[in-house]
Amino acid sequence: MATNSVSKVSMLVLGLFWFLGIQLVQCSVTYDRKAILINGQRRLLFSGSIHYPRSTPEMWEDLIQKAKEGGLDVVETYVFWNVHEPSPGNYNFEGRYDLVRFIKTIQKAGLYANLRIGPYVCAEWNFGGFPVWLKYVPGISFRTDNEPFKRAMQGFTEKIVGLMKSENLFESQGGPIILSQIENEYGVQSKLFGAAGQNYMTWAAKMAVGLGTGVPWVMCKEEDAPDPVINTCNGFYCDAFSPNKPYKPTMWTEAWSGWFNEFGGPIHQRPVQDLAFAVARFIQKGGSFINYYMYHGGTNFGRTAGGPFITTSYDYDAPIDEYGLIRQPKYGHLKELHKAIKMCEKALVSADPIVTSLGSSQQAYVYTSESGNCAAFLSNYDTNSAVRVMFNNMHYNLPPWSISILPDCRNVVFNTAKVGVQTSQLEMIPTNSPMLLWESYNEDISAEDDSTTMTASGLLEQINVTKDTSDYLWYITSVDIGSTESFLHGGELPTLIIQSTGHAVHIFINGRLSGSAFGSRENRRFTYTGKVDFHAGRNTIALLSVAVGLPNVGGHFETWNTGILGPVALHGLDQGKWDLSWSKWTYKVGLKGEAMNLVSPNGISSVEWMEGSLASEAPQPLTWHKSNFDAPEGDEPLAIDMRGMGKGQIWINGVSIGRYWTAYATGNCDKCNYAGTFRPPKCQQGCGQPTQRWYHVPRAWLKPKDNLLVVFEELGGNPTSISLVKRSVTSVCADVSEYHPTLKNWHIESYGKSEDLHRPKVHLKCSAGYSITSIKFASFGTPLGTCGSYQQGTCHAPMSYDILKKRCIGKQRCAVTISNTNFGQDPCPNVLKRLSVEVVCGPATTAAEPNWRG
Ligand code: GAL
Repeated sequence: MATNSVSKVSMLVLGLFWFLGIQLVQCSVTYDRKAILINGQRRLLFSGSIHYPRSTPEMWEDLIQKAKEGGLDVVETYVFWNVHEPSPGNYNFEGRYDLVRFIKTIQKAGLYANLRIGPYVCAEWNFGGFPVWLKYVPGISFRTDNEPFKRAMQGFTEKIVGLMKSENLFESQGGPIILSQIENEYGVQSKLFGAAGQNYMTWAAKMAVGLGTGVPWVMCKEEDAPDPVINTCNGFYCDAFSPNKPYKPTMWTEAWSGWFNEFGGPIHQRPVQDLAFAVARFIQKGGSFINYYMYHGGTNFGRTAGGPFITTSYDYDAPIDEYGLIRQPKYGHLKELHKAIKMCEKALVSADPIVTSLGSSQQAYVYTSESGNCAAFLSNYDTNSAVRVMFNNMHYNLPPWSISILPDCRNVVFNTAKVGVQTSQLEMIPTNSPMLLWESYNEDISAEDDSTTMTASGLLEQINVTKDTSDYLWYITSVDIGSTESFLHGGELPTLIIQSTGHAVHIFINGRLSGSAFGSRENRRFTYTGKVDFHAGRNTIALLSVAVGLPNVGGHFETWNTGILGPVALHGLDQGKWDLSWSKWTYKVGLKGEAMNLVSPNGISSVEWMEGSLASEAPQPLTWHKSNFDAPEGDEPLAIDMRGMGKGQIWINGVSIGRYWTAYATGNCDKCNYAGTFRPPKCQQGCGQPTQRWYHVPRAWLKPKDNLLVVFEELGGNPTSISLVKRSVTSVCADVSEYHPTLKNWHIESYGKSEDLHRPKVHLKCSAGYSITSIKFASFGTPLGTCGSYQQGTCHAPMSYDILKKRCIGKQRCAVTISNTNFGQDPCPNVLKRLSVEVVCGPATTAAEPNWRG
């Protein structure tokens, strides 16, 4: 009744406005040269990428809530065609692929959504998001002016837009979606394809706009994007970018928060000081939309990783880590940055900056709106030196490679290089859920011709044979060796040389592993060269070619090859070179264990498993291992530690966790300086360690008791070394400088008036259910080092420990103001001091309390 009368009233009001010729802006998203306008309001928007299939639906609400608390307005996701349409016309929107539920979760949190449909997405995702069946549509040519491709692309785009419309999810319908993307970084391809590229791009834009979503479309990295489509920037920095028309806003659709990793490579990290600097640079130049790629990277479950060689973890060094935990100080520092920039929003969206030089590499950007709002950004591009600049008759100290934000053109509320938030140490700690009895089963590698094999003369392309239903394809042939061969009588063994187009190969001679070889992401093609030990008579050469994620970057996907394309040849026999490339080869797709569904609770008993203690002592290649375990108590995220294993895949209760590979990281992990232009090789971690040792096991996939873990090991490893660990915040650190009257203070939390509010504080917080159990380090003075390795410096207030103990032990969170009086007396007058603290977080039990009371 009530709603009815309300809607009647609004109809009347609308009618009146129409009669009076007043235009009402109702639920609309438009844009102008300054910003995206939502319901007529220019908005400065922070957005973050969270890809729904890279976490579980049970995690979505928490991730989105964390994004909101981190100061985001928008959550962005790509749409992953190959998980939604596994075969033509068969759609899947269930579970992790429930796009509608994901968008509605964003809506429920009160955030906006940016739907990047693609449907080419790149994203380090298998085949860039394209279904592999698309490769086999007659006459297809990917991402160009090709009818079969365009028909399929339009079909899927319409399907997604239709689905969103049917659920009223576009902002024009009252939903959360304010933006959509068509294609992805097409600019480079377009240039390569010439006129065909240009035609396809124009077609794609027109097709998308024609779908009438009522919200703007963007094309990233496509400087020719036709009106009304907005062209946007992707990169580590975007301050040099301007849109292709003066009436379009300046938008950054991928601000890379870190970088992806590949098996065998180091872990890439991007210092938050540099990321914050890049964001502030973009904003000071007039940018009004920033999307962090990624805000939560998550996990490439199953066989969704692209590449090849992209790791199962897609952590990305993002503000929320793979497991859904907040990564500090990245998350907190960006949150402070967002707060500071939002304080400037009015001035930023309504004025153009006046830029003045403050020195050789220093500038001021000042925004003054007609209504009198003033905001300033003071930047120092010098990578080595802090600089004291004069602005509006005041002095400001700018650390190297940093920007200070002054929302009132006077007071600094934030400097990108001064990290005042806490750092947390997240660690993998053992659980009390052991793996029960390990049993093994050796993959049957006998190659008898059966209905599942096929034979051909010559070497076949792998994806044409497997259609990517499995990573594995056997190439099997035989050679007859005469008994007079010299190598059988003390001569040198013959050499087998195999040229592969990707990605890995294991060589079995007469059923025994005789070697392996791998390519790399940059260089998929590789050559295996190895001695072979044949006997007189017939010998089998069985090559297990392994795909490690299909490539995700580029054009003309229809031409991409994988597998052993040859030549394959034997050298060093009495006859000289023997080219096997055109021999008779038998092909078998996948493993027998896969066909028998050994990974699932239903298929597990189709073979006889051997108890671990009875299985061979030596690590066996191509072996299935299984065990059972109970879910650990608590709600911390879980992972399995695969350190003692080689390479393969993992399943829990029949669901694929993904590929594992404990390939050791090579790289240069020496140093990482936040200052200076960032590129992924600049900050590498984990050299000499397996690139990925831990694999995320979503809590939602576990039952309380008796979970089935199945591992397929290609090379050989010791399964009894596998264990379940939980990810917890074990310690937190904070490192904050004291207030110094001659310097502007960077750490004030609120934009308050009182002097005390301007005094910096150290904040420490353990995860829910945890409390501060001990103080590992505390020093007010001139401490040295970083979180995890602090040391006392020459100046140290003796009361530091006691104060921290008194304020913090037994509490989940505590705050300590940094001032001399708080620490008894000034330990070193006239020296700028800091307080560095590291505390240990432990399960919140009452046992911790007597400690500090007593
Ligand atoms: C971009 C691409 C993204 C992702 C990113 C690297 O060029 O648009 O999809 O692949 O690179 O993580």
